[in-house]
Amino acid sequence: MVKEAAEIEKMNSGLAEEISIDGFDYVEFFVGNALQACYYYHRGFGFDVVGYRGLETGDRDTVSYVLKQDHVNIVLTSPLRADNEINDHLAKHGDGVKNVGLRTRDCVKAYETAIARGAKSIYAPKTVEDENGVYKSAAISTYGDTIHTFVERGEYKGLAPGFKPVTGKDGRGLGLVSIDHIVGNVEVDNLAKWVDFYKNIFGFHVYQYFDPEDISTKYSALVSKVMANKSGSIKLPINEPYEMGLRKSQISEYLDFYNAPGVQHIAVTTRDIIATVKEMRARGIEFLGTPAAYYATLSERVGKIDEDMAALQALGILVDKDDDGYLLQIFTKPVQDRPTLFFEIIQRKGCKGFGKGNFQALFESIEREQENRGNL
Ligand code: FE2
Repeated sequence: MVKEAAEIEKMNSGLAEEISIDGFDYVEFFVGNALQACYYYHRGFGFDVVGYRGLETGDRDTVSYVLKQDHVNIVLTSPLRADNEINDHLAKHGDGVKNVGLRTRDCVKAYETAIARGAKSIYAPKTVEDENGVYKSAAISTYGDTIHTFVERGEYKGLAPGFKPVTGKDGRGLGLVSIDHIVGNVEVDNLAKWVDFYKNIFGFHVYQYFDPEDISTKYSALVSKVMANKSGSIKLPINEPYEMGLRKSQISEYLDFYNAPGVQHIAVTTRDIIATVKEMRARGIEFLGTPAAYYATLSERVGKIDEDMAALQALGILVDKDDDGYLLQIFTKPVQDRPTLFFEIIQRKGCKGFGKGNFQALFESIEREQENRGNL
């Protein structure tokens, strides 16, 4: 069960002063073939392609595409040469999230505070001034090979230095609005370490907490803590596997194939999940299946909702509720061949939770997929 407020308060004692973060700025993926990945997110998810950096812009080592839909910004980067270190990242992890960019109004302060509190530097604050204005960034390391870049845009008008704008690549947006949360998977017995990392370095607090009583099947379970900033613009759940002894947990499967801790899923909000998911499915994006039995008891569990149950069932959309309202959510299958990163599409109608009531259904669904891959 969600832990009582008192217990969460205890977890949040001695919190460092919060590093001021406005929200997620962008998420950068390292991928094997950025051109083709770009087509997938452009066509399948409805992102506009808005920026490019590569050979034509004078970058001899890497190529990057910037995709945008409302407030969601994705950067896809591939190496162009054999000696580029991104190749090592790809060999080890496959396609995946390298960088969760955090928007701040004071990059130097954010970075220096983080470093003073023990964060590992990736690069010190860098100021670039070009025809678009002044752009500041700095980066620190987080779990695995993942990094956080602090981005201070100020009045900067372009995407980022070095990128040329792309026009005419309208993705006919599917109603995706913003990033709700980004989830990391860490190794067994490492959750506490990473909770402390976000508490002590960022001053983020434990927002919610789930344990194996909440999320388990006969094969596996997980333990999860949601780290958040005060404004709620940043929510970073962290999972660790909880082995039940029978077979391999889905978090362990992720860790085996990613070969390290890393980003498990990115949850993106929509204001009309039925329309969004219907169109994503029509465009070929695959989602986890939901057992029919789930819908048989749904009304009983969540009460009256605005949406048509038959439409939700036809699309496999899940519903959960808390005291403040309800949410609708669905999970894609992994978006690369390795069973690692996937997306969640979420519509919140008051509910501040993460679909705890659905974890069980989701878990069972993932395990069916895992069994098909011979990894259970
Ligand atoms: Fe999620």
